[in-house]
Amino acid sequence: MSKPIRVAVIGAGAFGKNHARVYSELHRETQAGTLPQGTPGVELVGIVDSDTARAAQIAATHETRAYASIRELLAHGGADAVSIAVPTKFHRNVAREALEAGFDVLIEKPLAATLEEADEIIDLAAEHRRIAQVGHLERFNPAVRATIPLITKPMFFEIHRLSLFGPRALDVDVVLDLMIHDIDIILSFVAGEVVEVRAVGLPVLSQKVDIASVRLQFANGCIANLTASRVSTERVRKLRFFQPNQYVSIDYARQDVLVFTVNKMAQHTPNDGGLPQMPDVMPSKPPVVPEEPLRSEILSFLQAVQTRETPVVSLEDGRRALAVALEIQKAIEEHAERAHLDALTK
Ligand SMILES: NC(=O)c1ccc[n+]([C@@H]2O[C@H](COP(=O)([O-])OP(=O)(O)OC[C@H]3O[C@@H](n4cnc5c(N)ncnc54)[C@H](O)[C@@H]3O)[C@@H](O)[C@H]2O)c1
Repeated sequence: MSKPIRVAVIGAGAFGKNHARVYSELHRETQAGTLPQGTPGVELVGIVDSDTARAAQIAATHETRAYASIRELLAHGGADAVSIAVPTKFHRNVAREALEAGFDVLIEKPLAATLEEADEIIDLAAEHRRIAQVGHLERFNPAVRATIPLITKPMFFEIHRLSLFGPRALDVDVVLDLMIHDIDIILSFVAGEVVEVRAVGLPVLSQKVDIASVRLQFANGCIANLTASRVSTERVRKLRFFQPNQYVSIDYARQDVLVFTVNKMAQHTPNDGGLPQMPDVMPSKPPVVPEEPLRSEILSFLQAVQTRETPVVSLEDGRRALAVALEIQKAIEEHAERAHLDALTK
């Protein structure tokens, strides 16, 4: 058996603690020899957080060591691969330090706060020949995976991602916080470029846009309507799309997919007293094996670390999603100016 991959988590806050838990589970499975066939072994060598109490707490939970910085981790032997789950505005600097230290990196979404920062990360990963993946988690949702073989030519998307307000991720707006998940999924489902962006967004409970409604048009004519809110009274994560003869509905949270296929359309009723011809619609539910998307994402990353192949969600994918998200932010600002809401969105 090859040596376990030595992993660490950088930023063990609200989401990084989940990375720590998954690595810790894989570490225990490695020791017990119960990892799924073909999965690389893992050793969780440390938790890095500039909040030393936080690092100590999460490290103690998973019986590993706590470090205040990447430099400290390096002084104690370093790691082979790390998850970076610090706030987005720090992604570039932390990724730079990790890549220069020779670590492969799984960087939480969004890849960075600006395209310049994203490009710097892309250049650094190439320069240091590191494996680098972006944490677009929904790609690993089993409902999304079960949908991929069904895709023919999606022409119309209706997407809702609503969550309750909490004091988290307030360094970015709802577009970079939540909508970017769906942007990445649509970009992976539709061939071609986004050619038009229309958007409205408003701050409600924070200083940044908390709710947004967006219409994207692709070069091939596909339209996507997206709504994202982090100030909702309910939790909804649904993506529905139409393609020729088919309607597909994904519930990300329930991890299920519902498909309606039209085998024969309704016929015009002839004027001869005959019965109208009903459409022939076949509902179906592709089998979905429930699994934790974060575990699948991390396993996929570890596989890429082992094989040195391009990860399923590459830095270029992360950059594309970020570029569309930034276009949406621009469209929201332009709309706010037109509607004289600019004082509200600053
Ligand atoms: N994939 C998802 O579904 C998902 C969900 C939530 C958050 N995220 C992403 O995860 C990242 C973190 O979000 P969060 O909500 O966990 O933030 P958070 O503020 O709860 O946690 C960030 C942690 O990073 C630490 N930190 C900050 N700068 C650091 C540095 N230079 N070195 C080491 N540690 C540092 C902080 O002390 C804190 O503990 C963001 O990029 C966010 O977009 C992804």
